[in-house]
Amino acid sequence: MFAIAIDGPAGAGKSSVAKAAAKELGFTYVDTGAIYRAIALYMLEKGVDLEDPAAVTAELTGVEVSLEYGEFGQRTLLGGRNVSEEIRTQEVSMATSKWVAHIPEVREFLVGIQRGLARKSNVIMDGRDIGTVILPDAQLKVFLTASAEERARRRTRQLEEAGEPADFQQVLKEVVQRDKQDAAQLDLLPEDGVVLDSTGLSFRQVVERLTAMARERMGNE
Ligand code: DC
Repeated sequence: MFAIAIDGPAGAGKSSVAKAAAKELGFTYVDTGAIYRAIALYMLEKGVDLEDPAAVTAELTGVEVSLEYGEFGQRTLLGGRNVSEEIRTQEVSMATSKWVAHIPEVREFLVGIQRGLARKSNVIMDGRDIGTVILPDAQLKVFLTASAEERARRRTRQLEEAGEPADFQQVLKEVVQRDKQDAAQLDLLPEDGVVLDSTGLSFRQVVERLTAMARERMGNE
């Protein structure tokens, strides 16, 4: 199997770039953030105190989370229920990034699920610790990033396009806050990883660079 690990901060375009590259390469795109989000949703629904890591850890045994693939792309299932939409709310995003993703037992609980997915097919897996912890043997490890200002600009544009008026300075503040919250995982950069800075590059250019690197590595296999 061939695995591509993509790590990097929120808003760098990991998921859209990885999705497009996966389509071109015929790989499965695995969005690992969705699994963390599903755990947060489970805890929120159960009314578990997220600020209490022991309480969250104690509830983990009841969590049944899986990812499903098909024409529709990726679907996130929680106890068999499709929660792909629900995990995208602001409440779940904040709960995941502020509390759930920092609990070592949660991260440990998810290692097996993520590695299992990479055993089944060629994958492009995105997250924060894929190249360092989950798939250290991935054939290609990319750290996809962009300046905080560029990421805030993209996010503001996205929100405006979705009909939600957004204030750039406010969005930038949130981007910087998310970076701080995710810093523990993002500090780790694999030695053999490639940094791809998308600041000033078009979406197509980023996808092309990624697929070119992947094809080169596959040719050398
Ligand atoms: O990529 P995302 O925004 O969907 O991720 C949601 C949260 O989960 C984010 O705060 C970072 C965290 N996360 C993580 O710690 N490790 C991963 N492999 C994926 C996501």
